[in-house]
Amino acid sequence: MGASTPEYQIGHSDPEMNRLQLQAGVYRPLTEQVLRGAGLRPGMRVLDVGCGVGDVSFIAAELVGPTGEVVGIDSASRPLEWARRPAST
Ligand SMILES: C[S@@+](CC[C@H](N)C(=O)[O-])C[C@H]1O[C@@H](n2cnc3c(N)ncnc32)[C@H](O)[C@@H]1O
Repeated sequence: MGASTPEYQIGHSDPEMNRLQLQAGVYRPLTEQVLRGAGLRPGMRVLDVGCGVGDVSFIAAELVGPTGEVVGIDSASRPLEWARRPAST
């Protein structure tokens, strides 16, 4: 990150990435309910800004289905490496 960009305070260590995934599992039903309530439906295109390890992106991808598209972006590369793990299995 550049001098004008403050470092992300929580960091991107492996334990923090693991914590985010565990947290996402706990909140998954609520997250899905919120996304459905926001109106996500098949065929939509979604941009997940600050997607972290991608758990919300993957739930959104299930809701928009194969005719939709979800793009997750993050200012850090480390969480994106984690985000690619479930996508490749
Ligand atoms: C607490 S994590 C949440 C990740 C995910 N959205 C979730 O709900 O599990 C916040 C993420 O936002 C990213 N982030 C913070 N500021 C950002 C910015 N200005 N642009 C893009 N990503 C950003 C961080 O790198 C971090 O991975």
